Amino acid sequence: MWLGWLQVGAILASSVAVAKESGIAHSPPYYPSPWASGPGEWAEAYAKARQFVSELTLAEKINLTTGVGWMQEACVGNVGSIPRLGFPSLCMQDSPLGIRFADYVSAFPAGINVGATFSKQLAYLRGKAMGEEHRGKGINVQLGPAIGPIGRSPDGGRNWEGFSPDPVVSGHLVAETIKGIQDSGVIACAKHFIANEQERFRQAGEAQGYGFNISESSSSNIDDVTMHELYLWPFADAVRAGVGSIMCSYTQINNSYGCGNSYAMNKLLKGELDFQGFVMSDWQAQHSGVSSALAGLDMSMPGDTVFGTGLSFWGTNLTIAVANGTVPEWRVDDMAVRIMSAYFKVGQDKNQVPTNFNSWTRDEYGFEHALVQQNYRRVNEKVNVRGQHASLIRKIGAASVVLLKNNGVLPLKGTEKFTAVIGEDAGPNLWGPNGCPDRGCDNGTLAMGWGSGTADFPYLITPVEAIQSEILSKGEGNIVAVFDNAAKSQIASVASQATVSLVFVNADSGEGYISVDRNEGDRNNLTLWKGGDELIQTVASNCNNTIVVMHTVGAVLVNEWYDNPNVTAILWAGLPGQESGNSITDVLYGRVNPGAKSPFTWGKKAEDYGAPILREPNAGTDAPQIDFKEGIFIDYRAFDKNNNTPVYEFGFGLSYTTFSYSDLKVEILHTRPYTPTEGITEPAPSLGNSSHDFSSYLFPNSVEKVRLYIYPWLNSSDPARASGDPHYGMDPDDYLPPGATDGSPQPLLPAGGAPGGNPSLYDDIYRVSATITNDGKVTGDEVPQLYVSLGGKKDAKIVLRDFERFTLAPGQQVVWTTTLKRRDISNWDPAEQNWVVTKHRKKVYVGSSSRKLHLKARLPRLRGGDD
Ligand code: BGC
Repeated sequence: MWLGWLQVGAILASSVAVAKESGIAHSPPYYPSPWASGPGEWAEAYAKARQFVSELTLAEKINLTTGVGWMQEACVGNVGSIPRLGFPSLCMQDSPLGIRFADYVSAFPAGINVGATFSKQLAYLRGKAMGEEHRGKGINVQLGPAIGPIGRSPDGGRNWEGFSPDPVVSGHLVAETIKGIQDSGVIACAKHFIANEQERFRQAGEAQGYGFNISESSSSNIDDVTMHELYLWPFADAVRAGVGSIMCSYTQINNSYGCGNSYAMNKLLKGELDFQGFVMSDWQAQHSGVSSALAGLDMSMPGDTVFGTGLSFWGTNLTIAVANGTVPEWRVDDMAVRIMSAYFKVGQDKNQVPTNFNSWTRDEYGFEHALVQQNYRRVNEKVNVRGQHASLIRKIGAASVVLLKNNGVLPLKGTEKFTAVIGEDAGPNLWGPNGCPDRGCDNGTLAMGWGSGTADFPYLITPVEAIQSEILSKGEGNIVAVFDNAAKSQIASVASQATVSLVFVNADSGEGYISVDRNEGDRNNLTLWKGGDELIQTVASNCNNTIVVMHTVGAVLVNEWYDNPNVTAILWAGLPGQESGNSITDVLYGRVNPGAKSPFTWGKKAEDYGAPILREPNAGTDAPQIDFKEGIFIDYRAFDKNNNTPVYEFGFGLSYTTFSYSDLKVEILHTRPYTPTEGITEPAPSLGNSSHDFSSYLFPNSVEKVRLYIYPWLNSSDPARASGDPHYGMDPDDYLPPGATDGSPQPLLPAGGAPGGNPSLYDDIYRVSATITNDGKVTGDEVPQLYVSLGGKKDAKIVLRDFERFTLAPGQQVVWTTTLKRRDISNWDPAEQNWVVTKHRKKVYVGSSSRKLHLKARLPRLRGGDD
């Protein structure tokens, strides 16, 4: 049932009250919604946006904020256009690893592979290349990168779309990705904000489809410290990098919906982080009209309440809400200014390409409005936007291979007498690489997870193809492949003849709307799929040179075979995208020396991760309550805390050479003391003075209506009729949160003050340097990692703070110099509502993994100020 906007506003306001009284987690209200102010690098774009928005009518502004409905235009989301100014509809398109629903595009390695590279430079180059492709297809906003889920639970379905469960890996790589995308003239969208850590229960309707009788999305219940020190951390980096948009999430945060949560959007994102871009809803994640507008949502995606209904919480209803004074016009002005600031910031006024593809067909001709099959025309120009990106994709694929074990058998030469290639994961999907919509199956080699975070492969090089060409090019060896994991006797026979056996195995996961082998997005367990463990054991018991290659979305349990002496090498290749076979072959045959590090921990058992997915509803038919009781202790922080030894630790990865670490130096840099931000904002800028006469918003005669399309206009000058709201006319004072419409100057937050938070959080406090030497015989890459121990009882044993990837020739040394910023040595103080440097003695470590901390030193005490 569709609820009118007034009704929903009232219901949400009262559900907050219920949460408070019943003792379940509660999200405090925070109003008014901060208005953009255009600081620093936003100044020029903001000035242009203000000018642009000042010239718009109310309906035009609202058109910018509201999607026209699912499948009504070319992209997964489009807002309305402004024909009077020849301003086209803005196009939002998935995904974080390339362009979804399009042809002649590249399939890049997934985020988790970028995480494994630990390379800021490759993250940037991938972002730049993806941005170029989006721009070439006429997309305004790329719906990525993903940093939420961050990876609280290793089995979370969408972890692989992001970089790592470590917030600092995530933060550095999201920032570089955003810079890359936006340098190409495309607005990046960091998602999903925030605490959207599992697929199960993310949407009530989806969960009902799986047989769960729940009426609301689950609530991620998080304390303020965990929010700041873990989940918000990479979003701060995204905002500091100038991200143009952020997508709010399906989940509730402390029992208030992500896209209606004033604490999350108004306080954390727009207040503390001083985010200047716009917040768009995830698709159907908006649950209210007035209240989401006042809580900080700026764009409703895809615009309809439920796909294809033709009804919207905004559109007409937002026009009415402004015209009758419920939502102040400055709030809608601010939405439009934020959207247009992002547009101008990335230069779309100068460089935008008209959209030339269509999400809903790969044919050249199709319907402009696919939902209602209206206006048949040329919709797909089949523009090839792949450029030279294949070589970068291959490079990142190889640079993200983590060498977990090597008994001296790698690299191979290609002249081995008999190479067996075993496993379905070595070969093709018999239905073609795009044979399952949104990659919703695990057939053949795995190079991408499933869901909206995908792209169609332009081709997919399988491992067997690349290995076979390698061996044939050397002209000596036999190569025999068996793809059927169940063909035990054939596998045993081939393995027993082989001088080397390469076994390919995988584990898949994805987004909740698709279930693969009864994994409803999240993985049901951490074991290999398709009998992978047994497959490895069959091969290993017949061949004493068994090399395992894993294409998995994250950690899997390897206990059964990793220390088998016949398993001579183990590699994790993640989800490498279209060049999969070439990338792994580069590493296996030594053209590329592996230098990646595991971006997550490989535990001995699932329980060791300590933050399980909530599998069963725990609040009757009400919102399932997911208590983030583990706090900041996820992944390696949990293993360290509980003294659990992993099989392979976070940050671990071998090379064909060896490195040594020496000469740690720590020096205090002179800095100004931490200055909490003070003062007040300007009043909300008012860019319009729209009429309160409803008849001025009636559908113009010139508009040819498309069926079920979302418009800003009214079909009646009676707002009760136009809105269809039976409760129309309730007194706003009865349901609006206090202060929600107040446009007067507001106090700045002490932890705020600039995009990314208080600028003095980013002061360099210490300079740290260390020497890394390649003391082996071949050139290789090493990733020195800097960890800090913050020293308090409630702190993690160590937390990563920086890393860098270097290429070193044999005998070559590098002095890695970096800094610790104030944020790096601070804790969030919930009472102060600010960051503080505690008095606990702090230590710094530089090492090659989270458990190989070769160098350590105490951080010298700071004088005065903070200490
Ligand atoms: C996903 C988003 C995606 C959107 C549009 C949603 O289901 O959660 O990540 O961008 O759909 O396809």
